[in-house]
Amino acid sequence: MPTGSDNGQTPIIDMLKKCISAETISFHMPGHTNSLGFSDWLRENALKIDTTEFSLTDDLNDPGEAFRTASCLAAETFGAGMTFFITTGASIAVHASLISLASPGDIIIADRKSHSSLLNACRLYGIKVVFAFIPDIPELINEYPDAALVFVTRPDYYGKADDISNIIHMSESRGMPVVVDESHGSHFCFAPALMPSSALSEGAHVVIHSAHKTLPVLTQGAMLHISKGFLRKKPESAKIFAGALKAVSTTSPSFLIAATLDHARALMSTKGNSLISNSTEMIRAFHSMLPENIRNCLSSFQGDPMRICITPGAVSVDITYMVERLNSEGIYPEFYDLTDIVLICKFNNTEDDFRKLAGVLTEVYEESMSDKEQIERNFVDFSRRVHLKDKIIEILNVSCRIPFSPSESHFKSDGAESIELKLSENRVISEPCAIYPPGIPLLIPGQIIDRNLISMLTDLLSEGIRINGITETSCRSSAEIPRFLSVFI
Ligand SMILES: Cc1ncc(COP(=O)(O)O)c(C=O)c1O
Repeated sequence: MPTGSDNGQTPIIDMLKKCISAETISFHMPGHTNSLGFSDWLRENALKIDTTEFSLTDDLNDPGEAFRTASCLAAETFGAGMTFFITTGASIAVHASLISLASPGDIIIADRKSHSSLLNACRLYGIKVVFAFIPDIPELINEYPDAALVFVTRPDYYGKADDISNIIHMSESRGMPVVVDESHGSHFCFAPALMPSSALSEGAHVVIHSAHKTLPVLTQGAMLHISKGFLRKKPESAKIFAGALKAVSTTSPSFLIAATLDHARALMSTKGNSLISNSTEMIRAFHSMLPENIRNCLSSFQGDPMRICITPGAVSVDITYMVERLNSEGIYPEFYDLTDIVLICKFNNTEDDFRKLAGVLTEVYEESMSDKEQIERNFVDFSRRVHLKDKIIEILNVSCRIPFSPSESHFKSDGAESIELKLSENRVISEPCAIYPPGIPLLIPGQIIDRNLISMLTDLLSEGIRINGITETSCRSSAEIPRFLSVFI
């Protein structure tokens, strides 16, 4: 845009106007569902209470009575020994956990499906990391008895909640703290009979909640909990975590976001169980509205029942067509990948929302079943997509069980160059590459690129999958699109 062309346009406001003018049904974050999850008072006064510390208020970074009381109430509600409010996202809680529990040069064991904030924290603070998928983490605990901590992500973006009891038990007996990134499961503790167990109830030492994802909290509202047991064993950790959070957070925390964290805690501690059972009842009713074949391609109730995961290709329905149809009816899922559509159900989703959702899914299914040739094409396409998704897991697997020092790349980044992917064999990755969402790094700085990796990445990119960190240059004269990534010189 040339300078001097500003005639008072507001492109961001214009973009956002579309969100509130359209009649939309939200099955995506944030968990407050277009502000419906807030009290009338919060909705009416939100912009007026956008403040930080001054003579009438408290200080989140140096808590007085209001913040201390709110944190104690949250700790009690979530079953923690101590809770910190964060207004700059759960990513900051990941950073603070690593700084508090590991020192530069230490190695940590991490779930291969960890969010990119973990890798970024390792890069910035000189921490080494060795990855494994959750079932293989116990072996790594034996292999790396001096690891500073174990970091697991549970549930994942699809609502799947792996059993981590063995990991916690093994780590506990070796004095190794376990940090659970429960970003997608802040609501688990409020209905124990309906939900997977919460990480704190499983005995995790530190738990991270990206509260804005599933609770009625403004975007960036997050919490970091330290367990009672860990605080008893290491009382000094209260001060260490507070200092770490202060170091990585803004000096102008949003009291508006903090107020919504306070609101969500109060709401959930008094009504959480009935809100969740009400929603899960509606979701059960939604299941029963669907044709049996569509119902069989839902994976809800296998983990978090509030997260509906649909695999339309399993019944030969084209996933992109289904998403287009949902969107054209004003229904917005959280995201979709090669094979699955993920919907986050919130407490403010109504019976009508679920009825409309069931209606569109049924219509698309019935339409798709009326064209035999299309069914065959969709079947072939789904097999291809499943194969590509397996490739992503294979790519993630390549960097498992290898210790990495990601900070080397960060501090040596002037020693990096951009190179064409097809020419990158035997070169070493210098920048992380990830698919968003869910934001899991595919390639780790320090990873050596081999022929097999080039081939798998090329296959994904040729299918139009965008990998953050791999840039594409359009080249009119060639059918092949050159793709570049950053490697060490
Ligand atoms: C598993 C996981 N952890 C952490 C985060 C970071 O959360 P936030 O966006 O609150 O910083 C995300 C965000 O998507 C996530 O999916």
